[in-house]
Amino acid sequence: MDDAEITVGPVDLAARVDEALAVQALAFGLSDDEIAVRHGIVLRHLRNPGARAYGALTPEGRLVGFVYGMPNDRTHWWSTVVEPYLRAGGHAGWLDDSFVITELHVHPAYQGRGLGRALITTITDTAAEPRSILSAIDTESPARALYRSLGYTDLARRVRFPSAARPYAVMGAPLPLRRPGGTGI
Ligand SMILES: CC(C)(COP(=O)(O)OP(=O)(O)OC[C@H]1O[C@@H](n2cnc3c(N)ncnc32)[C@H](O)[C@@H]1OP(=O)(O)O)[C@@H](O)C(=O)NCCC(=O)NCCS
Repeated sequence: MDDAEITVGPVDLAARVDEALAVQALAFGLSDDEIAVRHGIVLRHLRNPGARAYGALTPEGRLVGFVYGMPNDRTHWWSTVVEPYLRAGGHAGWLDDSFVITELHVHPAYQGRGLGRALITTITDTAAEPRSILSAIDTESPARALYRSLGYTDLARRVRFPSAARPYAVMGAPLPLRRPGGTGI
């Protein structure tokens, strides 16, 4: 498969939620029960004001990666969970005027060829907000390396989400995200 054959563009993720969760299940690891729960959560997220999604598509139109996010709202569940952790470190201001990356996943067979980077820079380039925040499992994963390379830094660590077995880190970056070889400023 030639990398150039994969295109990144806006997608109607609500219409493709099963396809997206199949990608997430392979990339991130989700049980059937978790997929069923996520189904409703993704559809609810996508109804929030300003929520949008981008996908990586094969020439046949198969979804092999996706990202979605939205302007942060302090009343959203995610924001209420991370707020005390950010406040403890003096970073609660990051919850205002910030674009949240809610999910980013690339099918394992298509990882390592720039799609994750293209998806997150494409969606954040559409944001009017001056910064972006997200949470990632608090370990040295490919995701954390990608986020750091884009200018995200740790705002809080060992963040506990109810029902999540592993602790998360909350990261934030100024927008536009840093490009390879550039400062992003
Ligand atoms: C994180 C993820 C989306 C990255 O997608 P990708 O298309 O493979 O990433 P890219 O090819 O665009 O790589 C971009 C950067 O990520 C980092 N990266 C990617 N794979 C890596 C690996 N195996 N080890 C270390 N860093 C890695 C590098 O910094 C890389 O930049 P470089 O190519 O200039 O070195 C993908 O690995 C994935 O879906 N992981 C599982 C799901 C997940 O963890 N999602 C994030 C939840 S918070």
